Amino acid sequence: MTQLLQIDPETQVAAGVQRSVFRHPTDQTKLIKVLRPETSRAARSNFNGVMDRLFPSTRLRQIRKEYQEYLRFMLSLPTPDYHVPISHMFGFVQTNLGLGGLTERIVAPDGGLGETLAAMVDTNALAQSDLALLNDTIHRLFDSGLRASDLNAKNFVFGQRYVADTLGARDCVLVDGFGDIHAIPVRSMTPWSNHVALSRSCLKLARNTGMTWDNKRRVLIKA
Ligand SMILES: Nc1ncnc2c1ncn2[C@@H]1O[C@H](COP(=O)(O)OP(=O)(O)O)[C@@H](O)[C@H]1O
Ligand SMILES: [Mg+2]
Repeated sequence: MTQLLQIDPETQVAAGVQRSVFRHPTDQTKLIKVLRPETSRAARSNFNGVMDRLFPSTRLRQIRKEYQEYLRFMLSLPTPDYHVPISHMFGFVQTNLGLGGLTERIVAPDGGLGETLAAMVDTNALAQSDLALLNDTIHRLFDSGLRASDLNAKNFVFGQRYVADTLGARDCVLVDGFGDIHAIPVRSMTPWSNHVALSRSCLKLARNTGMTWDNKRRVLIKA
């Protein structure tokens, strides 16, 4: 019989639309993401939501796309020490709550979970220094050819990243929404079309966070 890693449901630290996020029981550098059971998720009326219900495999396809893009990206880093704009993904672990995806934990100053851009905008807590970190991450998304079609404010997390067992400098990390997450792929990506798609996503991100998007300089500006 397979030994399962036991996750205490009380150690859940966040939840997205698709996944519940838990602290790793023994490794403080990692989080475990488990797909939420279909029944616990609110029905969404948007395109991806309808596709989820009609074709449950769509959801798995999205996760697969994310891992695929992570692999593609890591295997073609511009330089070995490239500052990676997305959270690292370490494969899978079988848990009592279902298959878990291991990912690096972005850490807040108090040792808890890093705050999302959405939360910081909501509480008016986005400092200029954090906006600079966000713009640097956006610059690296364009620069590195990463495919990210869901630049949602809840998918950018601010905090420190572990380098081995030591916490590094404060950073802004895209933790989700990379890979071509569309239910039906609409673009065959070239560097040019990827930049167009990223620009569009940044414009939407600006609208949703009360900022403006300077497409020429490729920076978000606080109004
Ligand atoms: N690597 C991470 N470090 C810190 N917080 C994270 C990390 N990944 C996810 N989170 C938190 O968990 C939430 C949901 O995770 P996410 O991967 O976006 O799930 P979903 O695919 O369901 O949207 C995020 O909005 C964020 O608050
Ligand atoms: Mg998300």
